[in-house]
Amino acid sequence: MLFCFSTDHDCMTNNRIAVYPGTFDPITNGHTDLVTRAARVFPKVVIAIAESPHKKPLFNLEERIRLTQNEMAGLDNVEVVGFSNLLVEFVQQSGASVIIRGLRAVSDFEYEFQLASMNRHIAPDVETMFLTPDEDYSFISSSLVKEVARLNGDVSEFVCKEVQLAMRERFAERG
Ligand code: COA
Repeated sequence: MLFCFSTDHDCMTNNRIAVYPGTFDPITNGHTDLVTRAARVFPKVVIAIAESPHKKPLFNLEERIRLTQNEMAGLDNVEVVGFSNLLVEFVQQSGASVIIRGLRAVSDFEYEFQLASMNRHIAPDVETMFLTPDEDYSFISSSLVKEVARLNGDVSEFVCKEVQLAMRERFAERG
């Protein structure tokens, strides 16, 4: 399912590069599902990994980029980049004009609506489009996956092997 956050129905016609932003700490199967869908719609998808220091990420930006790149190795039209400036500024610098966001449940809507509205206020030429993930992934978030992994729960359904290993090592280091 794809929603276009715009009254301009041309928004699908002129945009060839889509930016999928997030913190990706770490990338989950839910994110991958969404990127795979976006990569079928857009000729090029840029996964933009926000530094997000306020979220005190488990993995630093380089680690998140590497884990995400490995996960995307099979998708030729997907690029992974880090950023620490304003999202809309990054989108424009990338030559893109579409932001992709995932809507997992109605509860995501309010925050996403605010984000999309603010971004459009700052950069009216940048459109936000929403994709819904497979329902199997509708309850996943990076925080929940980290919590389960920290307590030695099984997260193999939610993240790839490399992410599982990286989390195990990081939590072991932290004791
Ligand atoms: N599958 C699984 N999980 C998903 C998901 C999906 N399809 N879509 C979202 N999520 C989860 C994420 O894992 C994340 O979980 P967490 O909070 O437990 O870590 C949560 O939903 C939030 O999504 P995320 O993609 O990480 O976004 P965010 O809220 O951390 O960041 C940015 C949003 C990066 C886009 C925003 O902060 C931003 O634009 N930053 C740049 C600075 C800027 O321009 N600020 C002004 C914005 S108006």
